[in-house]
Amino acid sequence: MRTQVAIIGGGPSGLLLSQLLHRIGVEAVVLERQTRDHVLSRIRAGVLEKGMMDLLRQAGVDDRARREGLPHDGVVLSYDDDRVRIDFAEHIDQPVTVYGQTEVTRDLYDAAEARGTTVLHEVSDVELHDLDEDTPYVTFMHDGQEKRIDCDFVAGCDGFHGVSRKSIPDDVRRDYEKIYPFGWLGLLSETPPVHDELIYANSGRGFALCSMRSPHLSRYYVQCRLDDRAEDWSDEAFWAELKRRIPSEFAEKLVTGPSIEKSIAPLRSFVTEPMRWGRLFLCGDAAHIVPPTGAKGLNSAASDVHYLFEGLSQWYRDSDAEGVDRYSERALDRVWKVERFSWWMTSLLHRFPDQTDFDLKMQRAELLYLRDTPAAQEALALNYVGLPY
Ligand code: FAD
Ligand code: DHB
Repeated sequence: MRTQVAIIGGGPSGLLLSQLLHRIGVEAVVLERQTRDHVLSRIRAGVLEKGMMDLLRQAGVDDRARREGLPHDGVVLSYDDDRVRIDFAEHIDQPVTVYGQTEVTRDLYDAAEARGTTVLHEVSDVELHDLDEDTPYVTFMHDGQEKRIDCDFVAGCDGFHGVSRKSIPDDVRRDYEKIYPFGWLGLLSETPPVHDELIYANSGRGFALCSMRSPHLSRYYVQCRLDDRAEDWSDEAFWAELKRRIPSEFAEKLVTGPSIEKSIAPLRSFVTEPMRWGRLFLCGDAAHIVPPTGAKGLNSAASDVHYLFEGLSQWYRDSDAEGVDRYSERALDRVWKVERFSWWMTSLLHRFPDQTDFDLKMQRAELLYLRDTPAAQEALALNYVGLPY
């Protein structure tokens, strides 16, 4: 088989890239390890930056996100019963859109099906070859047979545990990593959200986040131990813990109910450099991970797709290599700023095991500074709503 761009991974980055390429007449094949149902069963991110919404529009897949997504003009940060509302409308005049990653992925799969893009599911043993030459190719197993795709470029959109990053030689690649000593336990329930905006709460018992998917579907998280297991947390224990961590005014009106999903995610900051090697480009979680506190994982996957799509458009439309040559530099410039913001939000809002009284005073001072300083609120708003591409 031959294609122009072989895309490894059928998560949001791979699917969005294939959809954008299709719109300019560039052929792509997507190879995904899991079934479509499995990919769509993963509950992950929930907040889309304006840049990502614009990219979905450019790809022609934003109809449902615009119709059903919830525009949010602000977010609440709390410290015990003290709180500050960051007003995006006042500082930036741009909302974020609350719309689940699962729904984005579903829309992208529907679009791929409608246009007849080849998405091969349940592939295994994917290997990338001759990436440092002009004629790379990919081999894999599908339907019990060994297959090969020859291509111009390989887009490594296969997430943190994929094969693409590991295909860059060790002496070329440099990884930067920070592992946090806690995780997030998330719960989805068919209950009305406790507030019409998101609440990020720092409390003596640890961090909590109140989010949502719709006016009838809530998503909540609490900071938990790394060795906790989701199945050991009863719904009752989760709700009780959440109530203790959010301001009492919200705790009193929290509507609880049975969970429809509960899972634990570890927190990690990770960046690999470079994001391009020869004919391979890394995109999204394959190249970088952020702790979820700034809602940036999915959004930075989208900004990579933007830079890569621009580069590939220049290549195929104008026979110009400038965009692909500068992909890594452009993507990494934004990635590191997003890493900084996610690390800062994480440090501001969580309880760390080795935190001293001084560290706690610093967290509190930072939150009070935010509460009382419009310039600090504006800086937070700028990052949360999304840095420009
Ligand atoms: P993925 O979504 O990881 O997609 C990669 C795809 O590649 C997967 O479908 C995978 O099956 C496939 N794949 C892997 N290996 C291979 C292979 N060898 N061959 C073929 N296919 C392969 N972000 C937030 O902003 N907020 C959150 O609350 C949040 N929660 C998260 C919870 C979890 C458990 C995880 C893992 C991530 C979370 N994120 C969150 C981050 C966000 O979901 C990711 O940044 C986003 O999914 C990145 O998209 P991606 O397409 O780059 O990678
Ligand atoms: C959600 C997840 C996040 O990590 C975040 O910062 C905001 C919202 C969510 O799942 O809704």
